Amino acid sequence: METLTDPFNFRTYKKIVPEAQDFLPLLGTDYVEMYVGDAKKAAYYFKTAFGFQDLAYAGLETGLKDRVSYALVQNKIRLVLTAALDPDNPIWEHVRRHGDGVKVIALTVDDARKAFEETVGRGAKPFMEPTVEQDDQGQVVRSGIHTYGDTVHIFVERKNYRGAFLPGYKPLKTGYQPTPTGLLYVDHMVGNVGWGEMNTWAEFYNKVMGFAQLISFDDKDISTDYTALMSKVMSNGSGWVKFPINEPAEGKKKSQVEEYLDFYRGAGCQHLALATNDILHTVSELRARGVEFLEVPDAYYDSLFERVGHIDEDTETLKRLRILVDRDDQGYLLQLFTKPIVDRPTLFIEIIQRKGATSFGKGNFKALFEAIEREQALRGTL
Ligand code: FE2
Repeated sequence: METLTDPFNFRTYKKIVPEAQDFLPLLGTDYVEMYVGDAKKAAYYFKTAFGFQDLAYAGLETGLKDRVSYALVQNKIRLVLTAALDPDNPIWEHVRRHGDGVKVIALTVDDARKAFEETVGRGAKPFMEPTVEQDDQGQVVRSGIHTYGDTVHIFVERKNYRGAFLPGYKPLKTGYQPTPTGLLYVDHMVGNVGWGEMNTWAEFYNKVMGFAQLISFDDKDISTDYTALMSKVMSNGSGWVKFPINEPAEGKKKSQVEEYLDFYRGAGCQHLALATNDILHTVSELRARGVEFLEVPDAYYDSLFERVGHIDEDTETLKRLRILVDRDDQGYLLQLFTKPIVDRPTLFIEIIQRKGATSFGKGNFKALFEAIEREQALRGTL
């Protein structure tokens, strides 16, 4: 069979993280699927607020009886919003328990059968046996394993497929296309896990998926008077797939990770970090479209330039848009965090622009957490 390369997402695996292992060569984040109460409205929100574009649709019109999915796209980011149509569907149980949240972090692979064998052989709990799906655009093989909480990873082998998204979907063409906001790809996705479970899950990514640990923060690094957390950043060999894992740490008051765990009813995805090449443009667009960001105190900017040195961006604009800056030994990064994008104080989105820096904004954590605590105080959950 002729091999069709998906020009959209297909990349060749190249190892740059020496400590990682190569038995699961991931080609990138394939898609992120959220289980939501109403997929039509969620799709409208992500198009309107974040500039996602129509990609594909599956539902009653494509022969599904029990659920509906809208797949959206912006550059390399594919976001799927899925809701149940019948009351006994397990998707409802997920939404009832967790609220709207991330169910699937799908990863592109060259061989989904091998990905399943390698990970299940190393102890992963199977979620989806290797399954071939096909239509007149070719075939896709998918398989899946469980990770923290009710979250799963699906391995997607799409090198022999040229359709819009996956077999079973038809192209989505609503005619409503707000302009994109410059979001390019998924930089990292963070999991919040329970007390004492960070090492278990860091070890899972190391043993089962071959990831290496890039960085670790303990509660001395990330704590304010009231909150604390610990974090380990796990990366695959190519560095394209990075999963920081957080657990709460003991503080004077409730940690934001603990608040997440209380409201999500367990471990789950805390945030998606989406990359841009022009954060000034992206953040001003998002603000104009009604996306709410964590408030950054004026005081943050007082000492900023002593801390990070010279940066290319206009400082007044940065301050006006309330963008955070941090530097490591390789360069700097600009970032900002939305308020929760769902009803519960759980899932949020980070916008990040890397200018050399490969770290995660440790220097911003304290300023950020103080801001989160002000929000928690307003919710009465601090
Ligand atoms: Fe992040």
